[in-house]
Amino acid sequence: MGNMTQADKQEVEELFGRHINRSQIRYLKAGHLDVLEANRHGVYFSDAVSGKPMFDCFTSAGSFNVSRHNPVVMQALEEAIANLDMGTHDLPSAPKIALAKRLVELAPDDLNGVLFAAGGGDAIDCAIKLARGATGRGEVISTVKAYHGHTGFALSANGKEYYRRYFEPLMPGFTFLPFNDLEAARRSISRDTAAVILEPVQGEAGIFAADDAYLRGLRRLCDENGALLIFDEIQTAFGRTGRLFACQHSGVTPDIMTVAKSLSGALYPNAAVLYRHIARLTDFIDANPEFHETYSGGSDIACHVSLRAIEYIVENRLWENAERMGARLCSALTDLMKQQPKVIKAVRGLGLMVGIEYQHEFMGPMMADALARHGVFAVYSGNAPQVMRFMAPLTITVEEMDAVIAAIRAAVRDMRTLLPIARAAARIPGVLSLLNNEKAQIALFGFLRRFEREEHPRGDTP
Ligand SMILES: Cc1ncc(COP(=O)(O)O)c(C=O)c1O
Repeated sequence: MGNMTQADKQEVEELFGRHINRSQIRYLKAGHLDVLEANRHGVYFSDAVSGKPMFDCFTSAGSFNVSRHNPVVMQALEEAIANLDMGTHDLPSAPKIALAKRLVELAPDDLNGVLFAAGGGDAIDCAIKLARGATGRGEVISTVKAYHGHTGFALSANGKEYYRRYFEPLMPGFTFLPFNDLEAARRSISRDTAAVILEPVQGEAGIFAADDAYLRGLRRLCDENGALLIFDEIQTAFGRTGRLFACQHSGVTPDIMTVAKSLSGALYPNAAVLYRHIARLTDFIDANPEFHETYSGGSDIACHVSLRAIEYIVENRLWENAERMGARLCSALTDLMKQQPKVIKAVRGLGLMVGIEYQHEFMGPMMADALARHGVFAVYSGNAPQVMRFMAPLTITVEEMDAVIAAIRAAVRDMRTLLPIARAAARIPGVLSLLNNEKAQIALFGFLRRFEREEHPRGDTP
């Protein structure tokens, strides 16, 4: 048993709905993602009601690279709380300097400058402001389905209309190009371009890795036009893709790189913008030292914890495990796709950033539920619900990975009963678009969940 009853859980959800976000609760229920986390340990957290361990294959979109409650990083947090506080934000301090020094030692080439930020979105804002300020230009090129966060410049760079539509007019000057399309970039990058911003592996878009040739081409086009290249490594940095930084796969160094999430072991918020020591960037920062300020980013506690989290990744060479385990997962999923072509359309990924693309969008919530029943917590992509992301902690062992693979196989087997019904329904004119419509899905799956709960409460599932 967990530390909560079903009634406690309902109360938490009711209060969350009342005071924080009612639709979010409806959405989570409909997507079969309404889990409450209790104990967190290694690659697992336990379900607060049943007490059963769930494999964390989401890791808050790549935040828990060092695993849940990593004891080494936990100890760093305890030390930090005993000896430090957040510090005075604009004064130098030993923890800030130690982290900045280590970050630039590890980052490729001349990414030798560090600016701290409050979170991922704030880091993206800082990066875009830096690019506009340093070039004196306004145009920013982003990619279709990109996800960069919810703050002003970051939101303006999001490549899905869904996030932006109620907040127009956003920042002017943003253009969206298809990802991995160098020709489109060639036609658009000009002497008016301040920056090109992209994720080296698109996460929310459904796990798409940038081709090396595309990144090399973007680097060349930016150089030819005096534009800056920004890599958003908020999901991909610190070992996730099988290299310490995803840009190391292609050997392309951006001018500006954002990191957050796993930077601090997901124990205390922190984010950073790394920038190359090139005259345009350093001159702008020297002339405008307060162009981006934050009280909460780069705090002394955060920097102490972040340094230990990074050292843990480096000492244990976690990127190598990410590469090995990612290859094991991808190969098993590719076999599964061959056996179950009606369920799985594609498997792709880099390191432990792996996506399964289902044949239909509406299968995201169905598979989330089936996986949860087999003890795996996985979440489909925000900008592509037909793609389930598997982003396990980078500490995952062979035995743990094989257990995840067995659970995925079992969940896909479960689809054999549900899928024919859904596919038959989808042949009725209008039903498929309804099934694939997010709002209709929330209503429909939410409705079905009410019956399911009576039939078999989730805590009792294997
Ligand atoms: C690639 C990417 N960029 C930016 C962000 C925004 O980060 P935050 O939620 O810390 O503002 C995220 C968060 O999921 C992300 O995955």
